[in-house]
Amino acid sequence: MTQPPRPGPPLWLLAELTYRCPLHCVFCFNPVDFARQDSELGTEDWLRVLREGRELGAVQCGLSGGEPLLRDDLEIIVAEARRLGYYTNLLTSGVGLDADRAAALKAAGLDHVQLSFQDSTREMNDFLSHTKTFTLKNRVAKIIKDQGWPMVMNVVIHRMNIDHIDRIIEMAHEMGAEYLELANTQYYSWAFLNRDHLLPTHEQLRHAEQVTDAWRARLGERMRIFFVAPDYHEGRAKKCVNGWGSMFLTVAPDGTALPCHTARMLPGLAFPNVTAHSLREIWFDSEGFNRYRGTGWMKEPCASCDMREQDLGGCRCQAYLLAHDAAAADPVCAKSPEHHRVVEAVQRAAAHGPAGPVEHPLVFRDPANSRRLASPVTPDR
Ligand code: FES
Repeated sequence: MTQPPRPGPPLWLLAELTYRCPLHCVFCFNPVDFARQDSELGTEDWLRVLREGRELGAVQCGLSGGEPLLRDDLEIIVAEARRLGYYTNLLTSGVGLDADRAAALKAAGLDHVQLSFQDSTREMNDFLSHTKTFTLKNRVAKIIKDQGWPMVMNVVIHRMNIDHIDRIIEMAHEMGAEYLELANTQYYSWAFLNRDHLLPTHEQLRHAEQVTDAWRARLGERMRIFFVAPDYHEGRAKKCVNGWGSMFLTVAPDGTALPCHTARMLPGLAFPNVTAHSLREIWFDSEGFNRYRGTGWMKEPCASCDMREQDLGGCRCQAYLLAHDAAAADPVCAKSPEHHRVVEAVQRAAAHGPAGPVEHPLVFRDPANSRRLASPVTPDR
């Protein structure tokens, strides 16, 4: 294998401050075995990570979880990130953001809040998160506006809410959102467990795209709408995390540094911890970050594909989950020998009624289910 290319700086530092979360979303991207990983870095360690990230050249700092508002030191972390010159972004369910906390975070210098909703209806929002949070989220949306933050609403889209897309966009507009991210579910972690319930049909997707385009034409720049395309339906691989180890550096709650937030499930690959190594060592020299950099690690059909520089073989985590080989072509690509697994999953989902498969119920993300399923995610069989 040729030497991986020397990367530029990690422009995006994602600090996953905690896996604790009051919600139990069925599509959560936290590891299925999160309950086994319950240690969290202390405040001083996070502040050091921020400093080291900035010295490396990181400019964006995402603060996520779990629910980052569960950390009592969030204001301290935000203030240090601001002092260092990061653009800071809080990714939250809104639980824990009252007017006083919002004012404190604003005073600490927080630049941007991304608020998640599960749906435009109270019933589906509360069902999917297994909590009564719809009213609270509406209150939080107003608090965000009152603080003068740009309002960024994020809604994960899947088969159970995609037909509400018209009302979801209308709701975001009524709340004064400047940006709406309609993020089609990516099938990792809990979403992978629940895939047969969550995958939409082709018809649902086409309809959702048409509705979104009509709203874009109507609203123009007043509300920017991002429709994150679902790769299961595209036949083309995405350049996941903009290329392994090329731009994103995630630090998990326990300090494990990762090129993407699900990479820890990949077998045979050790990821260093920020308590034992500097971010510089981790970014430039660790095996975990170097393994899938560039194109030298590729095998066929990627190695000779004329798209290899564009998509970098797609997503390593998806290759592992679907083809049982993290170095394989991402099976969402029509050229992958394992592409039939994706086609079959879409067909299977379409064959189920709106209620989803009866053989197995939805699995909610909670510590009890996490402990019950506490082995690394089993790839597709
Ligand atoms: Fe891990 Fe795509 S999610 S490489």
